[in-house]
Amino acid sequence: MAARDRTLSAAFRPLDPGAAQLGYAVDGVPAQAPAGSSIAGALLLAGYRVIRRAPADGAPRAPYCMMGACHECLATVDGVPDVQTCLTPLRKGMQVSLGGHGAA
Ligand code: FES
Repeated sequence: MAARDRTLSAAFRPLDPGAAQLGYAVDGVPAQAPAGSSIAGALLLAGYRVIRRAPADGAPRAPYCMMGACHECLATVDGVPDVQTCLTPLRKGMQVSLGGHGAA
């Protein structure tokens, strides 16, 4: 199971604190994020520090560019592996797994 870091979640603020909250799950753990968030943004806001692990050496990886260039944000979403979570809008009920493709 992926570890959450509450100090990390405290470092991020939603752009619109009044936005409706969307429920989703990370490795089966319920979470919420403001509507309009990317999945990566939601994960960072929730305090997930490690999104995947490098296939070569298992080093922890996390979203870096937030614009589709680095591929450090890959996760399995609703059973689809290697989704670029920084480019994918969060939808209600999404099931995010951080355990695929060498992920955390
Ligand atoms: S954070 Fe770089 S591609 Fe998603």
